[in-house]
Amino acid sequence: MFASIILLLICVVFIVVQLKSRRPKNFPPGPPVWPILGNILDLSLENPLKDFERLKKTYGNVYSLFLGPKPVVVMNGMKTIKEALVTKGVDFAGRPQDLFVNDSTQRKGVILADYGSSWKEQRRFALMNLRNFGMGKDSMEERIHGEIQYTVDTLEKSIGKSFSPQNMFHNAASNIICQVLFGKRFEYQDETMKTLVQCFTENAKIANGPWAMLYDSFPLIRSLPLPFRQAFKNVETCQKIAKTLMNEHKQTRVPGEPRDFVDCYLDRLDKPGDDRSSFSEAQLTMYILDLHFAGTDTTSNTLLTGFLYLMNYPQVQEDIQLLTAIPLSHTSRFFFIQAVIHEIQRVANTVPLSVFHCTTKDTELNGYSIPKGTLIIPNLTSVLNEEGQWKFPNEFNPENFLNDQGEFVKPEAFMPFSAGPRMCLGEGLARMELFLFTVTLLRKFKFIWPEDAGEPDFTPVYGVTLTPKPYRMKVQLRVSQKIPNL
Ligand code: HEM
Repeated sequence: MFASIILLLICVVFIVVQLKSRRPKNFPPGPPVWPILGNILDLSLENPLKDFERLKKTYGNVYSLFLGPKPVVVMNGMKTIKEALVTKGVDFAGRPQDLFVNDSTQRKGVILADYGSSWKEQRRFALMNLRNFGMGKDSMEERIHGEIQYTVDTLEKSIGKSFSPQNMFHNAASNIICQVLFGKRFEYQDETMKTLVQCFTENAKIANGPWAMLYDSFPLIRSLPLPFRQAFKNVETCQKIAKTLMNEHKQTRVPGEPRDFVDCYLDRLDKPGDDRSSFSEAQLTMYILDLHFAGTDTTSNTLLTGFLYLMNYPQVQEDIQLLTAIPLSHTSRFFFIQAVIHEIQRVANTVPLSVFHCTTKDTELNGYSIPKGTLIIPNLTSVLNEEGQWKFPNEFNPENFLNDQGEFVKPEAFMPFSAGPRMCLGEGLARMELFLFTVTLLRKFKFIWPEDAGEPDFTPVYGVTLTPKPYRMKVQLRVSQKIPNL
């Protein structure tokens, strides 16, 4: 009797799960869905990018998958992604709220905040204040140049040797965002920074790994003491650091005379508020971590990819080097350097699946119905190498951004920062960093692929951000060059 009840219960659970996993009416097509598992077996947990590409070939630009019982829509190709994120921007501007990353970041900050007045208020605040602290202004340029000087020092000490540039770029990008947030930089060996970086790296790994995928797919296991718990501990450690930095600011600030982002936020908290305001100290601590995380790995991995390609395309490196001797106002110099930096961003494909979105209402895409609350994956990879959008989609070639007259042009499919209302809010800062680092370092140094390094492997390591496989570089001081006739 007992055994029959158990069997019956199993059957009921099985049927419920089956029904839950079934595609809603007119939902985008996709591979058959397994009971309980959904489509988890269709995706490599290590790197699903190839699987997404394969499924696109079978099901088209809009298809669906199930993570356990949860339906997910994957969008591919420039036209489809623009239609969703820009034309129907608000419909697709939400963020899923029931994932591992939401629980681990306690639903604070801006990156993972759902679409609504609180997210709008916080995003507007960041955009306005990042601008005030020099996005697009000279003062920010000076701060970046200040940090580049430390990179130059590191490179000078490494002349003639072969070394790994990973930490160098990571520290530089981290310090630039620290200057924006806290008005100060940290020594590369600083314990606080080391802890922050270690926690971020570990959490990025967990968020991308099989444990987070299982957490998202099977809510029943969420309270178990499994390896994903480490991510929650890491966030607590980071929050303590952010709180300490915030308290230091409280003691040294002069209200109304902000020195950095944290001061601006504290000024905003001083304002006699309405009760529904989304500004709070708890929000600020997560916001600090959000901006630091978003601004560090992205920029540093793009730089790492850039120098990997520049070493292995010595002609492109040399062309830029010759041009760095010419005034910036010279349009040919500007066009070519811009084309190379954009091409680096295109091949770097730094945030391959963007940040996941979510529909804010019942909507449609390419004739399919997508209910409110559906998790959306914008596959930016499918745009950055889309056939038909690029002259050379599968090779590194700055010509992708130059027209027949040698002028810089930006194809519509260039969207490494995504598009629409959720588009990266650090684009201005990131672009300034990429430009100044590339030009300043190439003016002074020649970067060489070490003779004993073998053939370069351009295949990146998958993660929230793509990272080049660890590599070493050799660096030489440049001898002065003759300026070419332009
Ligand atoms: C090369 C560098 C960078 C790349 C490729 C990049 C790319 C992206 C992408 C693809 C998104 C997701 C947009 C979406 O959901 O549709 C994003 C969001 C975001 N990025 Fe960046 N990013 C970079 C640098 C930065 C920097 C330096 C900052 C910090 C100032 C930053 C702050 C943010 C924030 C706060 C969001 C969330 C925006 C929101 O949800 O409203 N990013 N970024």
